[in-house]
Amino acid sequence: MGRQHVDHDDIVKFAQDRVNLPKEKADEYRAQVARLRERLESYLNEHPDFTLKKMMLSGSLAKGTALRTLNDIDVACYISGADAPHDVPKLLNYLVERLRKAFPNFSADQVKANTYSVTVSFKGTGLDVDIVPVLYKGDPNWYGDLVNQSDGSFLETCIPRHLEFIKKRKQAHETDFGQVARLIKYWAGRMKLERDGFRFKSFMSELILAKLADEGLDLSDYPEALQHFFTYVARSNIRELISFTDYYPASSIGSFTELVKIIDPVNAKNNVSKLYTAAQADMIVDAALDAGDAIDAALAAPTKQETVRYWQKVFGSAFQV
Ligand SMILES: Nc1ncnc2c1ncn2[C@@H]1O[C@H](COP(=O)(O)OP(=O)(O)OP(=O)(O)O)[C@@H](O)[C@H]1O
Ligand SMILES: [Mg+2]
Repeated sequence: MGRQHVDHDDIVKFAQDRVNLPKEKADEYRAQVARLRERLESYLNEHPDFTLKKMMLSGSLAKGTALRTLNDIDVACYISGADAPHDVPKLLNYLVERLRKAFPNFSADQVKANTYSVTVSFKGTGLDVDIVPVLYKGDPNWYGDLVNQSDGSFLETCIPRHLEFIKKRKQAHETDFGQVARLIKYWAGRMKLERDGFRFKSFMSELILAKLADEGLDLSDYPEALQHFFTYVARSNIRELISFTDYYPASSIGSFTELVKIIDPVNAKNNVSKLYTAAQADMIVDAALDAGDAIDAALAAPTKQETVRYWQKVFGSAFQV
């Protein structure tokens, strides 16, 4: 049946060739950020009162879930001080002005504010670095108020704990957690192109996968793992509360009125999916149903041609065996 035509190893090969960010690229981009971070550190050594306290790689490049299509590097910048503006446009201008001070070798047009972040462009080499401000009050664990990139609101969270949270799952499911997460992100990226209005934040899909992994889902067989993920999303209608007890007890989770409730593993009050409407949730469920059906059909298909065609419903025509 279908498995003899397309199996786990074929998905692995597809991931390596088409989905994953090659390691050399990831290393190069991480080094690019490390240089920025070190430059800020040396500036801080000379100017201890400077209000930009730290730069931290966040997002997929930090989590090891980056795709080949990565087009900017996420960095969080911790801003302290009572005089830092709490109004987002003003805060962004403040961050621009401070970054230009700390990085005098960047020209003014290389450091620019966008709607909810500041972009530092590297002329010629490297990717643009997208710097997201975090208002910081000195918490030793680096909790702070991050500017939500979806709507510009402030949300209290903790980037280093997010990285630690993902790292723990990666350690429990060596290579497989990261790989399945990237395959799901790749699928979601395709759905975004194909279905008007589709959105599915990477962090949400990673948290759903973490929940399934914590419950004992075996991630080492990719067709199975993907099938389970899609089946769970469809069956739960993506409306089941998802939460974790790494950093707070289950009893501290309040009640949420929003439809999709995927709770930040580091802050029991923060619903990561709070901005998702019923229509957007339904689109995720529909797409997951279709993907699950396609994988079922692929696993049962009699010929190689049919098997590949079903997998292409999940991963697009780039999927070839
Ligand atoms: N609503 C949120 N609440 C708390 N933290 C968030 C929220 N949204 C984003 N983050 C933080 O920002 C990081 C980036 O998340 P996001 O899923 O948007 O992008 P990504 O992992 O970089 O993936 P992509 O490849 O799609 O850019 C997350 O890992 C998390 O630390
Ligand atoms: Mg990102």
